[in-house]
Amino acid sequence: MLILGLCGSLRRDSHNTQLLRAAGELLPTGVKLVSYDGIREIPHYDADLPHNPAPEPVERLRAAVREADGVLVSPEYNRSIPGVLKNALDWLSRPLADSPLRGKPVAVIGGSTGSFGAVWGQAETRKVLAAIGAQVLDRELPVPNIDEQFDPDGRLLNEALAQSLAETLNELLAQAGHQFVAVRAA
Ligand code: FNR
Repeated sequence: MLILGLCGSLRRDSHNTQLLRAAGELLPTGVKLVSYDGIREIPHYDADLPHNPAPEPVERLRAAVREADGVLVSPEYNRSIPGVLKNALDWLSRPLADSPLRGKPVAVIGGSTGSFGAVWGQAETRKVLAAIGAQVLDRELPVPNIDEQFDPDGRLLNEALAQSLAETLNELLAQAGHQFVAVRAA
């Protein structure tokens, strides 16, 4: 089983990418999390560009989402979705009837350095995903003060947060039809 991590932060030391990595480490044997590495190459959405096939970076993203059993998306800028992530979701939404996100189980997780940014950002992300027809988990995981949540090796410091992340993953796996629920807390 494959979970695709789609992160809206491009920077090398992204805390949200770290969160995806921490999520990957909580998964049971037989479930793999792959962080998508091609979001930077996706062109700005333009309805005049070809859609079938779309430019190669878009086709690659479509294929990655299609192959995944579940998707996790991240962070928040200015109380909303980072532009690169919104752009990727816009491409994935066209044509709507064929969107690889339709019916796809999706958990939205992520964090911000402030206290509430992630809450607002995730609400926006969930709204967009629902409009596209994804099966968005009700459960949220907004991580405040995300810059204080990891040890130097990238492990989560807060046991309650690790537990919440594990529970979110469990729900995602159950939604994706996983037969055994075996995610452990850190
Ligand atoms: C931010 N950040 C931020 N934080 C917050 O709590 N509330 C906010 O409204 C915003 N807005 C915002 C806008 C832009 C353009 C940037 C670049 C950043 C801070 C943000 O949460 C922080 O930089 C995170 O660490 C970004 O995630 P990564 O890059 O660490 O994954």
